[in-house]
Formats: sequence, C-alpha cells, structure tokens
Amino acid sequence: ASTLGAQAAQSGRYFGTAVAAGRLGDGTYTGILDREFNSVTPENEMKWDTTERSRGSFNFGPGDQIVNRAAAHGQRMRGHTLVWHSQLPSWVSSIRDANTLRSVMNNHITQVMNHYKGRIYAWDVVNEAFADGGSGQQRSSVFRDVLGTGFIEEAFRTARSADPAAKLCYNDYSIENWSDAKTQGVYRMVRDFKSRGVPIDCVGFQSHFGTGGPPSSFQTTLSNFAALGVDVQITELDIAQASSAAYANTVRACMNVARCTGITVWGIRDSDSWRSGENPLLFDRSGNKKAAYQSTLTAL
Ligand code: XIL
Repeated sequence: ASTLGAQAAQSGRYFGTAVAAGRLGDGTYTGILDREFNSVTPENEMKWDTTERSRGSFNFGPGDQIVNRAAAHGQRMRGHTLVWHSQLPSWVSSIRDANTLRSVMNNHITQVMNHYKGRIYAWDVVNEAFADGGSGQQRSSVFRDVLGTGFIEEAFRTARSADPAAKLCYNDYSIENWSDAKTQGVYRMVRDFKSRGVPIDCVGFQSHFGTGGPPSSFQTTLSNFAALGVDVQITELDIAQASSAAYANTVRACMNVARCTGITVWGIRDSDSWRSGENPLLFDRSGNKKAAYQSTLTAL
C-alpha cells in the first residue's frame, strides 16, 4: 500500500498520529492527516486541565472537535489521558483528603469516559505513574501520596465499569529497555494485575527516543509484556533527527510481535512537534515526506 495507515492495516494494525485541535484549520496538516493516518490521539485536548479545569465543570469542546473529525474520516481514536500528575489542575493536586480525592478521580474517569463512550478504541487510563531511575516504584504524585499505590488499580476498575468496550491501557515513557528498573516495575504491576483479575488490556510505550532510536531490547520488551496477556502499542513515537534506520528498527520491533497492535507518532510535521528543535517526525515543515517516512512504510 502507498500510505502508512493502509500499509499497517494489511497486518491488522493501525498507524496513528497525535492531533492538535488548533491545527485543524491548516489544509496541509489535514491533507496529510487524512491521507496517511487511520488512528488519532488528541495531543492535549483530553487532559484533565482541559476536560475539568474546575471541579465538576466539564469541557469537552476541543476533544469533541477531534473525535467528530476522526469519526467522519474513519479514523480510530485513542483517548489520552484520564489520570496523570501533569497537566493537572491545582484544585486536584492540592487535595489532601483521601476520600475526596478518590471520589474526584473516579468521577473524572466516569464522566469523561461516559461522554466518549463507544467512540474510543483504547484509553490511556493512567499515564506516567512510575519513577525514573533505579527504584522501580511509583513516582510521587498527589494520587500516590494521598491514595497510596492502589490508585492505579482503582482507576482501572472504575474505567472498566464506565466503558466496558474500551481497551484500557497503562502508558509510560522510558519503559522500552527491558533491563531498566522502570520497565521492570511496570512489568511487575501488569503481571500482578493480570494474576488478580484487575482489568487491564494494553500497555503503551511512548517511545520518545534519542538519535539512536529504540534500545536493542525493545522487541524483547514488547514480547515479554505481550506474553502477560495484554496488547502492546507504540503510543507517542518521535526520534531525535528521525534517522531512517532508527524509525525502521522501531517499526520492525512492533511488526515482529503479534500483539503489537499499532503505532502512533507524536505529531505530523517537525513544526508540529513538542520536540520541534530535534526534527523528530516523518514530515518536514513543508509537509514533504522525509527519508524516515519511506523507511517506515517499507518496514510496515
Ligand atoms: C505533550 C504535548 O505534546 C505538548 O503539546 C504539551 O505541552 C505537553 O505534553 N508524554 C505524554 C504526552 O503522555 O501527553 C506529552 O504531550 C508528551 C509526553
């Protein structure tokens, strides 16, 4: 096939991108979006600081713009994200009472998932809950500090009852290298969830890589997680300087794992990227295909 989405579909996978509502008026942007991609993740529009900026007052306008557009173009949607320590309003991060925070978290999950019910293929229920470095433990956040480490399980259980048809993912960065303590910490959590029947369906590997691309163990990591009985997905791919080899290696790691169900790049053109200074994407600032585009298409 001649586009990323159509080529990925030949093996039953999707190829997606992050989309920013503010760019939907740009015809070059939407032209590439609709030609190449069959999955969409809102870059910021479903984060807590947009969806519930003040307690109990929900704003779905920007998210709806992206969801409605994706539906009209036959693109699947990843929901991103329900519980995250970042882009979190201060009215949440300042809560110190566990009962209050528990009901605030569960209400947020329930309201947002209810609003988008039936329109989201997979939700990043919890994002970036593990610490960098050697601890292999959860990071400090208002959720862990006030509710305890069980907040992740609680979030997934609440999510499952809110929308039983959506796949429920745990999403994080720097969990691509199998030997890293952070990877092992997330692996132990997923293994524990599966063994106790806590509802989890997928693990998202953000894959924000440096110039070298993925660690050599990336495919091992994907297949070890998949062996626990979850789907794995590459959810926010970008690679500093976007070398063709680094992109091809990343795509091949996914293609070689049956339960790696899709790949999402974190933006369309380099100028759209949150790392725009590193030119990490598949299209240049004018919207032309870069060399990494061709190596990606070939590896799919
Ligand atoms: C980034 C967005 O791309 C930026 O526009 C925003 O300013 C900050 O967040 N991990 C995630 C994504 O899960 O939501 C982040 O997206 C990048 C890192």
